[in-house]
Amino acid sequence: MSIERTLAILKPDCVRKNLIGDVISRIQGAGFKVRALKMVQLSLREAEGFYVVHSERPFFGELTAFMSSGPCVPIVLEKENAVLDFRALIGATNPAEADEGTIRQAYADSVGENIVHGSDSVENGRLEGNYFFPEHSIVNNTP
Ligand code: GTP
Ligand code: MG
Repeated sequence: MSIERTLAILKPDCVRKNLIGDVISRIQGAGFKVRALKMVQLSLREAEGFYVVHSERPFFGELTAFMSSGPCVPIVLEKENAVLDFRALIGATNPAEADEGTIRQAYADSVGENIVHGSDSVENGRLEGNYFFPEHSIVNNTP
């Protein structure tokens, strides 16, 4: 296994429910290092750009409206095997199917409002990280 980066986004429902601290605490407790972080309000166009791979899906309108409905918190995370380990930590897309102990099982209300995003590959992690953070703003040396 090698050190990887993945992009997390604490979605607008996470921010609205005042769960930023709780979710970051779980993420750090699982051994992920924060390499970049900010709060940002996406426009509808920006949300459409981020989720362009889903543009043909029936839920695209709902998804992009939700992702632009309030501020969200993108975070570049680093850890050995980060991509798969983060997907395991957040749980299934539908919180009703998410395992006990996962972030979505604990906090998410529905498949549409599921608290957190996680990249699905190392390459997408890099692309998605660069969607929010220029390479020079991602730090390498936090303890
Ligand atoms: P992300 O980490 O956000 O990418 O979720 P995922 O990788 O677990 O799921 P996927 O990439 O397949 O879908 C992206 C997002 O679209 C999901 O997180 C959901 O919020 C949303 N989504 C997926 N399926 C549905 C659906 O059937 N209905 C609605 N409303 N939203 C959906
Ligand atoms: Mg996905």
